[in-house]
Amino acid sequence: MEKLQAAIEKAREQRKTTTKSGATERATRGAATPANWDALEMISTRASAMMKKRVFEDTQSQEASYFDLLRTKILQQCREHGWRRVVVTSPTKACGKTTICANLAASFSRQTDRRMMLIDLDMRRPELSKVFGHRAEHSFSDVLSQKVAFADQAVRLSENVAISMNQTPAPNPSKLILQDSTGGIIDQIEREYAPDIMIFDTPPVLVTDDTLAFLKHADCALIVAAAETTTTDQIDKCEKEVAENANVMGVVLNKCLYNDEAYGYDYKY
Ligand SMILES: Nc1ncnc2c1ncn2[C@@H]1O[C@H](COP(=O)(O)OP(=O)(O)O)[C@@H](O)[C@H]1O
Ligand SMILES: [Mg+2]
Repeated sequence: MEKLQAAIEKAREQRKTTTKSGATERATRGAATPANWDALEMISTRASAMMKKRVFEDTQSQEASYFDLLRTKILQQCREHGWRRVVVTSPTKACGKTTICANLAASFSRQTDRRMMLIDLDMRRPELSKVFGHRAEHSFSDVLSQKVAFADQAVRLSENVAISMNQTPAPNPSKLILQDSTGGIIDQIEREYAPDIMIFDTPPVLVTDDTLAFLKHADCALIVAAAETTTTDQIDKCEKEVAENANVMGVVLNKCLYNDEAYGYDYKY
């Protein structure tokens, strides 16, 4: 475990020398909630599905408080650097990216003064819709392939949290991410919905090239590592590859058995 901590510290030091332009080149959003945002369908989630998938809505719970802290740290970093688009990724699968993204959505629902948009870009393993127990006709992959308008596909989890999920695995995720129109589609969504923060749940970096290809459309990336499972080499390699394409915001060490706290999240820069 000390090795893992040391690797995270080392990555942090290396990151200090990495600078990339942030969100400042894009238009600053207005404060008012756009009508497009309010028009998104509000879904009722299945609490039982969420509990089973470790998503904590209860404001009073200890687990929810860890995600509120993570949300605050993410917002601090975004404010400091002028970032707005955050990719959540990991070296390999099952580190907890989707669980963390879903909990961040629940956490932003508890802080209503920021509009948060969560987009499922892990189009090979569409998990967010399962986590929220939401069945729908269309997927975000249909938006990227311009078969469906974002307005008819995205939904709202709460007043200030919008989510775009996938229902089935897309047959050609790499092609969708690499196509020329993808950047323009993301820009248009940002322009029309004016979220304060966009979070993208993406595939693992060491398994497919999808995330690295998408990073040029993002401001920064948060890396999720699973304690006891992710190796220091994997963190190192993932961090290096991500840092070549975007700012690395930090590493979340998930599933920490050694932690004093009951649940097992640790957040390091
Ligand atoms: N802190 C945690 N403690 C225990 N199990 C966890 C934790 N975080 C995630 N999991 C479980 O690990 C599995 C993989 O998580 P998931 O979020 O789907 O990973 P990824 O999106 O990185 O592939 C899921 O069954 C999830 O419920
Ligand atoms: Mg996932």
